[in-house]
Amino acid sequence: ETGGKDMGDKPGTLDAVGEAIARCRACPIGELENRAVMGEGPRTAPLMIVGEQPGDQEDVKGRPFVGPAGQLLDEYLERAGIDRGEAYVTNAVKHFKYVPRGKRRLHQSPAAKEIDTCRWWLEAERDLVKPRVILALGASAARGLLGRTVSISKVRGEPMPLEGGAELWVTAHPSYLLRLDGDAREKQAALFAADLAAVKERLA
Ligand code: URA
Repeated sequence: ETGGKDMGDKPGTLDAVGEAIARCRACPIGELENRAVMGEGPRTAPLMIVGEQPGDQEDVKGRPFVGPAGQLLDEYLERAGIDRGEAYVTNAVKHFKYVPRGKRRLHQSPAAKEIDTCRWWLEAERDLVKPRVILALGASAARGLLGRTVSISKVRGEPMPLEGGAELWVTAHPSYLLRLDGDAREKQAALFAADLAAVKERLA
């Protein structure tokens, strides 16, 4: 489940998870110049929102979804009537994977193996928060929850039951929307908004 790595005991509190991920070197991403970004939100949140990994700004600030993708996410959450403050927001991978390019750090997608290794920490968060509803943003997040790769277009719009009773909704990553424009952007934005509206209904 963790790529054969011995991750030690699962921490019993979110604070302990935060301390453990800061020390984690189970995959090469932890060796880069970055810091672990822990999930944030209420310990008993009914909704867990899962992204891919921290980006440059998240790494600088030490908080999930505070950069451009986070701003877009906030906008759509608000439109759907979902209070971000009532959700537990985290990532499938806890460290920022990048390649240095001059003064900039270019985002690199985590490998399946890295997502699978970091799943240990995501499951620790799930075990502690026990959300009823989980929203996965993008394919990496979906893999972190399911342990396998799914096609977003095939699985979106319907909840998938997870072991332990939570229901998983898979949608696109907001960064994907940011890379589109014109009709493609409009179409994907409408699908994204519809997925968030469906999740909102499940929280009622
Ligand atoms: N993208 C993610 O997937 N997660 C973040 O926290 C920020 C950007």
